[in-house]
Amino acid sequence: MEKNVQKEIIKQTEQFVFQLLEKDASGHDWWHIHRVRNLALQMAVEEPGEVNAFICEMAALLHDVPDEKLNKTAEAGEKKVKAWLNQLFLPEEEKEAILFIVLNLSYKGGTNKVELTSIEGKLVQDADRLDAIGAIGIARTMAFSGSRGRLIHDPSKKPRENLSYDEYRSGEDTAIMHFYEKLLKLKNTMNTQTGKSFAEKRHQYMEQFLEEFYLEWDGLK
Ligand code: ADP
Ligand code: NI
Repeated sequence: MEKNVQKEIIKQTEQFVFQLLEKDASGHDWWHIHRVRNLALQMAVEEPGEVNAFICEMAALLHDVPDEKLNKTAEAGEKKVKAWLNQLFLPEEEKEAILFIVLNLSYKGGTNKVELTSIEGKLVQDADRLDAIGAIGIARTMAFSGSRGRLIHDPSKKPRENLSYDEYRSGEDTAIMHFYEKLLKLKNTMNTQTGKSFAEKRHQYMEQFLEEFYLEWDGLK
């Protein structure tokens, strides 16, 4: 595939995704896609071995298009990505590689057991999870909690263990609880060497944030 053909396809896909997500406020806004794409491309450079940057970039751009929160049904979301890929001038195997990543990236609360096999899939999944931790992850968590009318913190509420999907989505949590119920666990779910190394730094940053937070909460600093 010629480089400038790929460039044109990326540009068109970017516009397609932008107009779909422009108005989203569920945490899947365009800037999340922008960050995941840049992160996946950076990781593709740093990861040892051969990585197809074009597949990474396309999958990162399209990764939230079939998301359940943005579609009436899972089938409707799947149809949307397939229709987009089908009209592109791309080799069949590249379309399939991108589609497989996009349809199997999200864990859907742990119910999705399909593992991503390609290095491109593993990198994009890591990039998506990295965007939920570190400084960006803290900001997204606070914004999400606020948008649902929840508290930043309530010392009488303790993080819950072994949550079912419904409990996780029940809204019984504070922003600080979400750190323990999700964010601090993400480091151990990284697939790639580069993902692990990026996650380590972002994780440490969150630990520091929490330490500072509790000191300030108690008026000790
Ligand atoms: P994804 O499953 O793609 O990570 P979510 O919709 O679960 O997307 O989350 C979008 C963003 O909102 C993430 O940064 C996530 O950590 C945050 N978030 C999700 N659930 C909560 C919650 N209960 N409290 C605070 N932040 C949340
Ligand atoms: Ni995402």
